[in-house]
Amino acid sequence: MRLAQPRHYLMCRPTHFDVVYSINPWMDPGKPVDTALAVAQWEQLRRTYLDLGHTVETVEPVPGLPDMVFAANGATVLDGRALVARFRDRERADEAPAYRERLLGLGLAEVATAGFVNEGEGDYLLCGDLLLAGTGFRSDPRSHAEAQEFFGRPVIGLTLVDPRFYHLDTALAVLDERTVAYYPEAFTPGSRAVLRRLFPDAVVATAEDAAVFGLNATSDGRHVVLPQNATALAEQLRDRGFEPIGLDLSELLKAGGSVKCCTLELRRA
Ligand code: ARG
Repeated sequence: MRLAQPRHYLMCRPTHFDVVYSINPWMDPGKPVDTALAVAQWEQLRRTYLDLGHTVETVEPVPGLPDMVFAANGATVLDGRALVARFRDRERADEAPAYRERLLGLGLAEVATAGFVNEGEGDYLLCGDLLLAGTGFRSDPRSHAEAQEFFGRPVIGLTLVDPRFYHLDTALAVLDERTVAYYPEAFTPGSRAVLRRLFPDAVVATAEDAAVFGLNATSDGRHVVLPQNATALAEQLRDRGFEPIGLDLSELLKAGGSVKCCTLELRRA
């Protein structure tokens, strides 16, 4: 039986959620958004974490920052030290100081701001001792060396190629200290080869499950919270001894985000 480890998360209520600009192919400002429904779906995610025994901190949502619900992008926090994001797009730039303030308020040992474009846990995922780092659309490849120097962890750079999967956490999920699930076609041939070498036993997701953001999932080592439409992936996870928990976050998907995007992990020393 797989062991669950209690997690410490930071989330942001989608009070001001909307799609008023487009910085990824999922976002269509012409489509109506139901903010109340987004809040209800987000509450369900938060409730799921609390029921699993995790701790959830929140950051105050800021009016005029409709993507702030995607807390994963705010920073990367390891060993009680935070590297705060630097967003690629002007529309999200003001989220960085808001996340910075909140992280300072949590009493972390260090809160530094990235020098290069770095979209936090959207592109930086810890797996065991390795920091898997995405680039290609958002985080600047130079931020990889910066993160390696800051955290003192080996950074493995991975290049994304499909605009639908613009952040690493849309194409790869960390399931435990040595297991990942990913969608190979989202990566360059070289990055695919790196993933095969590092994770020969990885769960390989189908195009259908990737397309419903099935890989935008969180795991406590046992329970994997993921979008409910990723049904084949849920089955694959169950076969490996994980417990998938499918949720409906369809309203947030209109901005190109789901479970993992809404969740920033706070790793204390
Ligand atoms: N609309 C947001 C953006 O394009 C969605 C961010 C999703 N976050 C994530 N961690 N993948 O920046």
